[in-house]
Amino acid sequence: MTAGAFTVADLCDPGRFVRANTAVERPPLVPEIALHLASEVVPLWQSTETELAESGLPPPFWAFAWAGGQALARYLLDHPGQVAGRRVLDFAAGSGLQGIAALKAGACRVEAAEIDPFAAAALGLNAALNSVALTVVEDDLIGRSNPGWEVVLAGDVCYEQPTAGRIEDWLRRLAAGGALVLLGDPGRSYLPGRGLERLAAYSVKTSRELEDTDLRNAVVWRVLP
Ligand SMILES: C[S@@+](CC[C@H](N)C(=O)[O-])C[C@H]1O[C@@H](n2cnc3c(N)ncnc32)[C@H](O)[C@@H]1O
Repeated sequence: MTAGAFTVADLCDPGRFVRANTAVERPPLVPEIALHLASEVVPLWQSTETELAESGLPPPFWAFAWAGGQALARYLLDHPGQVAGRRVLDFAAGSGLQGIAALKAGACRVEAAEIDPFAAAALGLNAALNSVALTVVEDDLIGRSNPGWEVVLAGDVCYEQPTAGRIEDWLRRLAAGGALVLLGDPGRSYLPGRGLERLAAYSVKTSRELEDTDLRNAVVWRVLP
């Protein structure tokens, strides 16, 4: 790890930045999948927030396997019938954990959408690490009509307003159009209070620095129209 000592070359080359500031690790609930993750939580997060904020760069969400995303990935690996042979969108993909799990469970195509260019680089590296092919979409898809996604995955996206409200409206529209919409969430502040069907629940080991607790209960919900 070289967090706190970023070079200009690192910042201009997201792939190089991801490789330089992460180690290959396996999320506790999903050991089948290897990811480039920040093993030293605080240095990377704080350095990024302070030093990189000046460049307008977002915090490195992609460097962690969030509790809601781990639950959703575990659910897909244990219930492959939900995605096998289907076209899948991994919305707000971060590290790509859920999309990679969907491909391992037999999805025929997974588009992984992100707005952070560093996450987009991490998605490519993490897909290669697991010998799967994610289609990385670097764009904000909220509000777009469905081009043919049969399953939409959203791991740990209910942490910030007003984005969470926009996401909820859009996910409900996709569900109303016939897509299976699955949300993984560990009880974040802006989880919708209604219109969710509980499918599974998991205890996820987390980092105290990141979550203020060693264990979070995360639920996989089906979003209803
Ligand atoms: C808490 S992380 C969750 C990442 C991953 N799904 C997981 O569970 O580990 C949230 C991610 O949402 C991404 N994000 C936020 N708004 C987005 C948008 N409109 N489109 C795509 N990604 C977005 C952020 O860049 C961040 O990587």
